[in-house]
Amino acid sequence: MKGIEKAQRLKKLPPYLFKEIDRKKEEVMSRGVDIIDLGVGDPDLPTPAHIIKALTRAAEDPANHRYPSYSGMHDFKYAVTEWYRERFGVELDPHMEVVSLIGSKEGIAHFPLAFIDPGDVALVPSPAYPVYHIATLFAGGESYFMPLISLNEFLPDLDAIPAETAARAKVMFLNYPNNPTAAVADLEFFDRIVEFAGRHNIAVCHDAAYTEMAFDGYRPPSFLAAAGAKEVGIEFHSLSKTYNMTGWRIGFAVGNRDLIDGLGTIKSNVDSGVFQAVQIAGIEALRKDQACVGDMIEVYSRRRDVMVSGLREAGFELEAPKATFYLWIKVPTGFTSTELASRFLEQGVVVTPGNGFGDPGEGYFRVAVTQKKERLLEAIDRIKAMKL
Ligand SMILES: Cc1ncc(COP(=O)(O)O)c(C=O)c1O
Repeated sequence: MKGIEKAQRLKKLPPYLFKEIDRKKEEVMSRGVDIIDLGVGDPDLPTPAHIIKALTRAAEDPANHRYPSYSGMHDFKYAVTEWYRERFGVELDPHMEVVSLIGSKEGIAHFPLAFIDPGDVALVPSPAYPVYHIATLFAGGESYFMPLISLNEFLPDLDAIPAETAARAKVMFLNYPNNPTAAVADLEFFDRIVEFAGRHNIAVCHDAAYTEMAFDGYRPPSFLAAAGAKEVGIEFHSLSKTYNMTGWRIGFAVGNRDLIDGLGTIKSNVDSGVFQAVQIAGIEALRKDQACVGDMIEVYSRRRDVMVSGLREAGFELEAPKATFYLWIKVPTGFTSTELASRFLEQGVVVTPGNGFGDPGEGYFRVAVTQKKERLLEAIDRIKAMKL
């Protein structure tokens, strides 16, 4: 065989900016250096025991071994609507306004296939979780990047979007609390998004993966709590970070019924729903005592404090985030993001260079506090010893 040429959509993928860092990580590891990985946004804490028990019980029931319903079990969708009412004061119809997802990434990745045709525009924040842009590309669309910069508190400047771009745009992706900048958005911002989306007939996809990971009593709002939001958008949610369930693959999308219906149609032709035992564990997570969420917040807020003060002592400029387990930190002058990440790696500390999330991320690096306090302190000692 001569070899099969890859499809254009793969050729159009943006360059993988972590290649150099990955190579260096391998090289440093091969020298036997102890690595402290602050690069990945994957909780190191275990899934709470009551959720695991619900899964093991449900896994033994043959009724759960068959194909699940495409859009989610009735009980799961019901539990989602109860949770939304309780947590955000948002009313949802469990039959028409909820769809289960195999993790929120899956839903985000499939959404453009339902609403983006070749040549259509999606408004995509930058820096950002890469899936918004890549899913747009896979659907044949074009991303218009909305820079998230500190001057605008890492919120997109809607007035800076050219009129002709807004007119062509069909979808807007947003994500608050934000990965990678850790910025938060209030209802007043979401009101402006609803107005903009209504005026330009744009479907808003708000990625709300981190709403439950917030500190000092702060409770991030749902986009759907803004008046009229359900007319223009949907929200993606995940059990991954809230309940330390990244490996379980369960999330959901809620909101505008036509948008949910479009996403559901793509999904019903691609996958066959979420394993019912995992949905039953998800119901347990959403319905039962939320003390485990409080415990998770406690752990990350202590780690955040350790890391913020340690990095400030080391001379770095950063804000203490109100939410997410990320810190978004300015690179000192004289280094690019990649150069700094490379220098850290030589000391066995892995961080993510900001430009990997998009050009406006150059000049920053991201730390995820997904390691125990002792390891964070060790990382800080190593960084201080570098005397940058
Ligand atoms: C902003 C954001 N959205 C979505 C996801 C995906 O989460 P899930 O595990 O639900 O697919 C992540 C994971 O890191 C994320 O950072």
